[in-house]
Order: sequence, then C-alpha cells, then structure tokens
Amino acid sequence: MVTLERHGPWALIIGGSEGIGEALATRLGALGIALVLVARKPEALDATAAKVRAAHGVDVRTLSLDIARDDTLERVRELTDDIEVGLLIHNVGGGGGFGPLLDRSFDNNMRAVMANCVNFLKLVHHYGQAMKARGSGGIIAFGSMAGNVGGANLATYSASKAFVQLLLESLWAELDGTGVDVIDIVIGSADTPSRQRSGTQDNALFPVATVEDVAEQALREIGNGPVQVPAGSEQAFATFNVPDRREAVDTIRRLLLEMNVE
Ligand SMILES: NC(=O)c1ccc[n+]([C@@H]2O[C@H](COP(=O)([O-])OP(=O)(O)OC[C@H]3O[C@@H](n4cnc5c(N)ncnc54)[C@H](OP(=O)(O)O)[C@@H]3O)[C@@H](O)[C@H]2O)c1
Repeated sequence: MVTLERHGPWALIIGGSEGIGEALATRLGALGIALVLVARKPEALDATAAKVRAAHGVDVRTLSLDIARDDTLERVRELTDDIEVGLLIHNVGGGGGFGPLLDRSFDNNMRAVMANCVNFLKLVHHYGQAMKARGSGGIIAFGSMAGNVGGANLATYSASKAFVQLLLESLWAELDGTGVDVIDIVIGSADTPSRQRSGTQDNALFPVATVEDVAEQALREIGNGPVQVPAGSEQAFATFNVPDRREAVDTIRRLLLEMNVE
C-alpha cells in the first residue's frame, strides 16, 4: 500500500494529467503526498493540478513536456532537484501512432523508444538511485499486453512495453529488501480518454478496466510486484505468454484487426 511515510513526500507522475494519471493524482493527494505532474497538454495538466490542490491542499507542480524529447530528464529535474521524490510513476503510452514499422518514419518509430526505453531508463536510474540510498520509495509503471507479444502495426510500442516490463522485473529482484517497491501493471484495456478518442472496439479477451480500479490496484499492490494485471485480464496474459510464439503473434494480429487497432 502506498503511504506518505514510505512513498512521499513527493510523487512524480509522468503522464499525470488525465485518465489513470488523474485518478492517481487525486488518490495520492488524498494521502497528503505532494505532486509533480508531467504531460503534454497544459490545459488538462492545469485542470488536474487545480482539482487536487482544491480537494486536498497539497503542493502540485506541473510541467508541459513531450517525454520523447532528448532533454527529458534535465527538464524534469529542474522541477525536482529541490524536493524528495519518493514515488516515480510512468503512465505514458508513448507511441507515435500505429501502423507498419517500415511505412512509418524512423523518427516516428523512435517516439516509443525514447519515451518508454531511453527516457524511462534515465528517470528510473536517477530517481531510483536516490530511493535506494534513502532505503524507501516506489516505482510504478503501466505496461501493456502488447508488451507480451509482438503486435503487427504496434512494433515499437510492443517492444517498448516489453522493455518497461522486463526492466521492472529485473529491478524488483535487485531492490528486494531495500525498502524500494517496484510494480508494473500490465493492462489489456482501460477506459482512458486516449482509448475513448481512438475508436478501439471492445473485445471479450480484454475487459475494459476503469481508470479508478487500475489506479487503486497500483497503489494498493505496490508491495506485491513485479507484475500484476487488472482483474479479468488474466486470460489475455496467459494467451500471449505461451511457448508457441507464432500462435501468440497470429492471435494478437487477428484481435487487433477486430478491435480496429491498425
Ligand atoms: N488505455 C488502454 O486501453 C491501455 C491498454 C494497454 C496499456 N495501456 C497503458 O496504460 C497507460 C495509460 O494509458 P492511456 O491510454 O491513458 O495513455 P496515454 O494516451 O499515453 O496518456 C496517458 C498520460 O500520458 C500523457 N502522455 C502521453 N504521451 C506523452 C508524451 N509523449 N509525453 C508526456 N506525456 C505524455 C497524457 O497526456 P498528454 O496526451 O497531454 O501528453 C496522459 O496524461 C499507458 O502506459 C498505456 O500504454 C493503456
């Protein structure tokens, strides 16, 4: 369970403006944890910050930033070098849109790599070192079923979410007993604004979790890593973690077409 004593006094939420990030910000504010919220759209950031300040009276700092940028860590550090970040949360999809890898520009493919691999690693390394030295803290990321199987038209997104998951599985083992918690919540579908805008169709294998339930699970289960799936997504996780990789890749290719993700 996330607590002010173990995971405060500040939480840094990358992707803290809407959906799961907004639900987390509200819940953390209620625990008395101050917030640094990072996302691109300033309006949504400001609205979430104002809501949490008004409801819970905690300090909230905001930064409008595309975390695919080269200078991400430096920009985020400008807001955090004078405070103690006890909780790092990575809630960014980070894809540059979907489509066949070779039909998209190199730079477009690199967006997920920058957001979820290069800059995620930089953030984890920087804030994780300080947590380990203090002997307390936590790291939460939101992964994807797509990180457990290669999805046609999702190549760099899938690969980047696999990176997130395996990085945190490794880190969880390395930090065992240090006081620093690590968990990756691997989502099938969640009712985020981004998903609502995308036109993705529902599918029985991916029951749509509410953002409130996902946020609640992440904060409640932080000590029970390294990986959890939302209730109802166990079957999807098992479907893609099979030895027959051709079967797994064919299954997700068919499902993504049915769900209008292409
Ligand atoms: N929704 C689903 O069905 C689903 C399924 C599987 C996994 N997931 C995972 O669950 C998490 C949340 O999903 P979501 O649909 O809400 O993702 P999202 O569209 O990436 O948005 C999440 C948050 O991240 C911010 N964000 C996105 N790209 C960013 C960037 N390049 N730089 C800075 N901030 C950025 C968004 O605000 P701005 O747009 O203003 O930047 C928002 O606050 C993600 O990690 C996603 O991979 C979701």
